[in-house]
Amino acid sequence: MASRVKRVMAEEASRGSAGGIGSQVLPFAPMSAGYGKVAVLLGGRSAEREVSLKSGNAVLNALKSSGVDAHAFDPSEYELAELKEFDRVFIALHGRFGEDGTIQGALELMGIPYTGSGVLASALAMDKWRTKLVWQAAGVPTPRYALLTSRTNFEQVVEELGLPLMVKPASEGSSIGMSKVMQAADLQPAYELAAQHDRLVIAEQFIAGEEYTAAILGDVALPLIRLETPHTFYDYEAKYVANTTRYLCPCGLAPERERGFQALALRAFELLGCQGWGRADFMLDASGTPYFLELNTSPGMTDHSLVPMAARQAGLSFEQLVLRVLENAHVG
Ligand SMILES: Nc1ncnc2c1ncn2[C@@H]1O[C@H](COP(=O)(O)OP(=O)(O)O)[C@@H](O)[C@H]1O
Ligand SMILES: [Mg+2]
Repeated sequence: MASRVKRVMAEEASRGSAGGIGSQVLPFAPMSAGYGKVAVLLGGRSAEREVSLKSGNAVLNALKSSGVDAHAFDPSEYELAELKEFDRVFIALHGRFGEDGTIQGALELMGIPYTGSGVLASALAMDKWRTKLVWQAAGVPTPRYALLTSRTNFEQVVEELGLPLMVKPASEGSSIGMSKVMQAADLQPAYELAAQHDRLVIAEQFIAGEEYTAAILGDVALPLIRLETPHTFYDYEAKYVANTTRYLCPCGLAPERERGFQALALRAFELLGCQGWGRADFMLDASGTPYFLELNTSPGMTDHSLVPMAARQAGLSFEQLVLRVLENAHVG
């Protein structure tokens, strides 16, 4: 066993039942030493390639500093068949061909354990429309919406859902192709922009209120994070460029309300069949009613990303988090 891994275990064991948030929500789970040769999948060919390179390199460095025999693997540069020489895969790809079940299917066929959700859950969570259908059927609250096509009567959509509206491609991430529509005349141009990214476009009732995200690790929801941005919504700039976005963790909710939303987030995760880890984005309207927006099955993993922030609040370092995710790698 690598010495760093041993140290991580010792640190976790010594926290034991001392009562820190981490030890309460994350019961000690021994790390198995046998990770073997690990490929960190990064880059890829989705619109989120650049973010994935950052996530993947952060994961790679963390694994290496824990003594794991980890190697970067960019599927847009190498044949997937070359993964055969690896014992495990850490998926740090975002978006299409990485988070959507395709690479998961390839790894299933090759029989190589990989991190995160399986084929079905990855594909389902990538599709914001079908995610909403499942959540609606099972009572997880999500904003009202309409599917848009070139033949849609846009005025009728505005009549039904009101304004403002959020228009988004069903299968993108990082707020790509999204717009907030303030007046009826802007709906069609917003649809056309979103349609450049995906065949499926949805218009959602705009939820004016607080934005939160719930990171999930194994079968627990980590402390919630509240996001505050002076932008009209949490757009690409606010996510990756601006330094005006504020992240509050602890999030400021009363503990029992936070626990309620964590339980709901875990249910939203389990309903889609997600595994290993993920992140549910949701909003609270002015009356405090939650609305789940989406579930990310391969969330950002840079030092500044949200899941690492929530993990830190739960007492887990970035290195420990990465090992936990790797530990849950699976096939089938
Ligand atoms: N219905 C909505 N009401 C208000 N804000 C929204 C709504 N949908 C999305 N947003 C804003 O847009 C951001 C990105 O939307 P999201 O559905 O999470 O897609 P992405 O996959 O791009 O993260 C959210 O973090 C939130 O700030
Ligand atoms: Mg989101």
